[in-house]
Amino acid sequence: MKAPESLKPLSREEEPLLRNLVADRLPQHIAVIMDGNGRWAQRRHLPRVAGHRAGVQSARKVIETCVRLEIPALTLYAFSMENWRRPKAEIDFLMHLLRDYLRKELPLIQRNNIRLLVIGRHDQLPKEVRADIDRAMEQTAGNTGMKLAVALNYGGRAELVDAFNNILDRVRNNGLANARVDEKMISDHLYTSELPDPDLLIRTSGEMRVSNFLLWQIAYAEIYVTEILWPDFSRAQLFEALLDYQKRERRYGGLAEARHRVTA
Ligand code: FPP
Repeated sequence: MKAPESLKPLSREEEPLLRNLVADRLPQHIAVIMDGNGRWAQRRHLPRVAGHRAGVQSARKVIETCVRLEIPALTLYAFSMENWRRPKAEIDFLMHLLRDYLRKELPLIQRNNIRLLVIGRHDQLPKEVRADIDRAMEQTAGNTGMKLAVALNYGGRAELVDAFNNILDRVRNNGLANARVDEKMISDHLYTSELPDPDLLIRTSGEMRVSNFLLWQIAYAEIYVTEILWPDFSRAQLFEALLDYQKRERRYGGLAEARHRVTA
């Protein structure tokens, strides 16, 4: 693939990886479970929060690279509903970091024509975090480039519960006694209703779990797990993940093309 101008200069490691990517077979939506910040810090005898700070740099690199590659949608798992079980000091730091990110990164997000969506149960987040989320979403609402969804206080099961309750409300309020639920109706009521389902789910730090992330949406996603810890996840690692994705044969439960041909 010819390097987009804005991706240059490429390192000696990155250049051949990018060249091998097929431009018209890139995923339409990449979802990322950014894991391993704490271990990254511990290995350096640093406090865990230093890993989260370094993780922000990786997020920035991945966001910019996806914009340059013209990937239409990217979802980052920043804070799960289960993350409230962490020590208060770490939660406070993460909330502060995310607010800081939303404020400081806004000019870059605007310059890149990114539309920011924050998915999850906003109402349970601290008031000041909600205010920053609302401002960032409002200010980028007219942007037409990549959709960047940041999952905050997010849980896949909670998302489905919210979707079903919204459907029930609509049925009750509109007297739709004969309505039937179908897959499209469920997809249309998810937080991600504006995004295509992810084609590629990346998880760093080697854990083989989906951790309650986009449970409905990843039904047919290709899963890529790397041992690399999130703060070490570089542009080259993203290219590696994309190359691996392009080697996969996506059959959606059908047969491979060659086997599918009916022989005379
Ligand atoms: C996992 O590391 C990461 C998180 C809990 C999410 C926080 C992510 C960031 C701060 C990255 C920045 C993101 C954005 C969108 C600005 P962990 O603490 O679970 O690591 P461990 O498994 O090694 O303990």
